[in-house]
Amino acid sequence: MPERRALITGITGQDGSYLAEFLLAQGYEVHGLVRRVALEDPEHRLSRLIDIMDRLHLHAASLESYASIHQVVEQVRPEECYHLAAQSFVSYAFDDEFSTLNANINGTHYLLAALRRLAPACRFYFAGSSEMFGHAEHVPQNEKTPFHPRSSYGISKVAGFELARNYREAYAMHCSSGILFNHESPRRGFEFVTRKITSGVARIRAGRAKELRLGNLEAQRDWGHARLYVAAMWRMLQEPSPDDYVVSTGETHSVREFAEKAFAVAGLDYRDYVVTDPALYRPAEVSLLLGDSTKARQKLGWSYSLPFEALVREMVESDCRLAGVPL
Ligand code: NAP
Ligand code: GDD
Repeated sequence: MPERRALITGITGQDGSYLAEFLLAQGYEVHGLVRRVALEDPEHRLSRLIDIMDRLHLHAASLESYASIHQVVEQVRPEECYHLAAQSFVSYAFDDEFSTLNANINGTHYLLAALRRLAPACRFYFAGSSEMFGHAEHVPQNEKTPFHPRSSYGISKVAGFELARNYREAYAMHCSSGILFNHESPRRGFEFVTRKITSGVARIRAGRAKELRLGNLEAQRDWGHARLYVAAMWRMLQEPSPDDYVVSTGETHSVREFAEKAFAVAGLDYRDYVVTDPALYRPAEVSLLLGDSTKARQKLGWSYSLPFEALVREMVESDCRLAGVPL
């Protein structure tokens, strides 16, 4: 069977790297859209792709430029496109609403417009987010829960979700959105709370830090493993008809609980190290996220069974290894 061609935007990120590995294993020809600077500094900016670099086709482009996206789509003519690239850090969205809205909304629009023109049969995945539910009316949240975003990031994801839906309805394109709840891994960016905690534990264990400053410890999230979530993205694009799906574990835990478990893995008590810093609170918080992924489980046959404790342990062990203090 000839190789299928997939294009991943955001291939350098946590999810992009796992998805690239997944698609290579399925026999795809995998193309990635990356920023020019990434090609100039591969050691740092392509570090998550290091083991598969020689099997990837990387193309320089930016979410801010329609011309660059058009050019990549024209060169690749993908059969499947996974649009993961975004300014994805919610805290930063409060510091710079303009670049968050600009990159996330226009980037999605540019990509859809280029695909419509150059590869209209391409199947498209949009990386939606549980941040779209924000101050949610219902617990747990499913595909029917109304959106109430609490940041420009959440707003940009609602806009991207609606763009994907509109291209599906107006131009009959195969556009699906995954509404993914938080997912983590040893490849998570250091600014997100789980990795901040697990890398903090490692630094404290290595004697390089004495405390860990965190914001709101009572926020609750439905945390899954990124490696297991990328399979759901792929399954969405294998369906005969496009649709939208919640992807989540169905369990929620507080930041405090994550910290407690992470420190405990290293034999430490979080209360001796964690300092609450009001400067790290957000102007508008999303207090509780809990997903109901019944539709993804029933329609896509996707399943998730990794215990929360196993995710925390994997991340702490990995960061302690990296810090030279293996457990
Ligand atoms: P991530 O690690 O932050 O990766 C983001 C990717 O987007 C990186 O490859 C980054 O490239 C790229 N990017 C950012 N701005 C860009 C620009 N202007 N031009 C081109 N590329 C740009 O995020 P992730 O955790 O893998 O998440 C993937 C997607 O899923 C994102 O859209 C995120 O919003 C969404 N999502 C994530 C979660 C989660 O819990 N992880 C949950 C729901 C939805 P550089 O490496 O060059 O910065
Ligand atoms: N980052 C961070 N740093 N968050 C903290 C801290 C801290 O020091 N202290 C407490 N928190 C709380 C935040 O206030 C938030 O309630 C929670 O920890 C999770 O924060 P993040 O890990 O930054 O993730 P997020 O939930 O805001 O966003 C992530 O998940 C979304 C899906 O729900 C990102 O991956 C988004 O891109 C994604 O869409």
